[in-house]
Amino acid sequence: MPDSSLIKRRLVILISGRGSNMQALVQACRDQGWPAEVVAVIASRPDAAGLDWARAQGIAASALHHKEYASREAFDAALAEEIDRHAPDYVILAGFMRVLTPGFVNHFAGRLVNIHPSLLPAFPGLHTHAQALATGVRVHGCTVHFVTPVLDHGPIIAQGCVPVLAGDTPDSLANRVLEVEHRAFPAAVRWLAEGRVTLTPDHRVDVQGDPERLFTWSPAA
Ligand code: GRF
Repeated sequence: MPDSSLIKRRLVILISGRGSNMQALVQACRDQGWPAEVVAVIASRPDAAGLDWARAQGIAASALHHKEYASREAFDAALAEEIDRHAPDYVILAGFMRVLTPGFVNHFAGRLVNIHPSLLPAFPGLHTHAQALATGVRVHGCTVHFVTPVLDHGPIIAQGCVPVLAGDTPDSLANRVLEVEHRAFPAAVRWLAEGRVTLTPDHRVDVQGDPERLFTWSPAA
């Protein structure tokens, strides 16, 4: 019998760009000794800057260029095949800027996790920071959630909140939100890696030990 305490959950991370969330996850996984391993980073475009960083860490890194596929379904089928080669326990969308087909989402149901830069259910979709400024909300943030076929929707694992400050631009607000993304996302994925996350019958998340699941931004000292 293998010692279950030695079993590491296999994580595949999907990115589309710089990959700062991916880096935060990889570093937290290593530094905090999670019972997990990031076994691959896969990008939706070959020029995603995060790929070079992942390769430099010795992580298998590859890209599928969505423009080379005739349809969304064809791209998603190829992506699912590439992911399955790594036999992941969880597939982590870390700034993966593609709408996924229901077929893809259902294939990875219960194993697919996303971070979205707003306090869902407010502001699904793109340009969330501009949307927040346009509506005048005083609180904004990020959400880590299981993925369902509905865009930017699904059982919430963790959230991070930040104030909207006078004079904010979409960029200044995005930078503040990113700081809490880099705290909320590693915490949530760590709970998954530790096998502490379950879904309740009414489609909500339960985390064993009941940790604080709201991460609050505060100005650097
Ligand atoms: C993050 O704000 C993420 O929430 C959003 O896109 C951004 C990606 O940043 N979906 P990075 O690639 O993780 O640096």
